[in-house]
Amino acid sequence: MNDSRMATVRLGESGPEVGVQGLGCMGMSFAYGPADAESSRAALERALELGVTLFDTADLYGAGENETFLSPFFRAHRDEVVIATKFALSTDPDDPTKRIIRNDPPYIRRCVEASLRRLGVDVIDLYYMHRRDVHVPIEDSVGTMAELVREGKVKHLGLSEVTADELRDARAVHPIAAVQSEWSLFSRDIEAHVVPAARELGVALVPYSPLGRGFLTGAFSNAEADLTDQDFRRTLPRFTGENAAANAALLEPVRTVAKAHDASPGQIALAWAQQRAAVHGLTVVPIPGTTKRARVEENTAATRIVLTEDELALLEPIASRVSGDRYPNMSMTSAGRE
Ligand SMILES: NC(=O)c1ccc[n+]([C@@H]2O[C@H](COP(=O)([O-])OP(=O)(O)OC[C@H]3O[C@@H](n4cnc5c(N)ncnc54)[C@H](OP(=O)(O)O)[C@@H]3O)[C@@H](O)[C@H]2O)c1
Repeated sequence: MNDSRMATVRLGESGPEVGVQGLGCMGMSFAYGPADAESSRAALERALELGVTLFDTADLYGAGENETFLSPFFRAHRDEVVIATKFALSTDPDDPTKRIIRNDPPYIRRCVEASLRRLGVDVIDLYYMHRRDVHVPIEDSVGTMAELVREGKVKHLGLSEVTADELRDARAVHPIAAVQSEWSLFSRDIEAHVVPAARELGVALVPYSPLGRGFLTGAFSNAEADLTDQDFRRTLPRFTGENAAANAALLEPVRTVAKAHDASPGQIALAWAQQRAAVHGLTVVPIPGTTKRARVEENTAATRIVLTEDELALLEPIASRVSGDRYPNMSMTSAGRE
């Protein structure tokens, strides 16, 4: 395995400089069933060695557990890592499958203090609004986030799953370094409005679930049959029943391109996500999630794969053929509101 460090890019006009691929840390404590802590720690260290600097977490992940788990790693490497965390989402105590969204200023203030405490650091490098609560004016929420910057609790601001209009309104209040939204060979809805707005405003895009939550690697093909009872992917329409079978068949061109590069299908999915930067003319930093050192090596190696025009054309129709939404409740996404 080549140990050369990856290139870096700046998030937004004045945001932090980060390796062109980040690491999603959610699965280390949340959503995809139990994870091995030793394995996750090895994945974190290896990622940093290979030039990953943007590490993504949220207060939602394990109700704070993920931030607590990451704290020793972040503190040991404070000057080398860019810590991204999020507020706005929590789990409904009466129904763990449901999410509560809050964007009101007192809530944001409580959240930032709790995240700083769990992370064990003085400042959060990139603080995202995880979901938009449409009942709170975005000017109020981003206004509070801007105050946190002025108070030195947060360095840069980000938004997740906002619409193009919401991004414009937020940008009018304070510079936004990045929008983090789902973007992959299977999920391209943000290309209609959000991506052009981000390009126009000089905001970077951080694609989450760039491996289609693992489906694009071929690691599972039906969530109900292949994944554990606690796995969140069992609730996602596109990974169950007839949809899953139809969607698994869509991976054939990904496998064809992978063969040509002597690569894995997951690496092709990541190379495709990375290449959105050139295709759409904006900064793109995908954050694949893994709890395994070997997969960090595999995923970061994808930053060196460049797909040809013919290969991009072969992959182009996939997203429009995917059966089933990416969430059961699409109103929590930008596509569900624009
Ligand atoms: N803003 C939001 O609303 C939002 C939503 C979802 C996620 N996120 C963030 O985005 C990050 C990434 O998204 P994600 O974790 O949902 O999905 P993803 O990166 O598309 O896929 C992660 C899944 O793929 C598996 N995987 C990773 N590399 C692999 C490889 N090379 N071969 C085979 N399987 C592989 C992982 O399992 P192993 O751990 O076993 O490798 C995990 O199950 C998250 O960690 C989180 O930080 C944000």
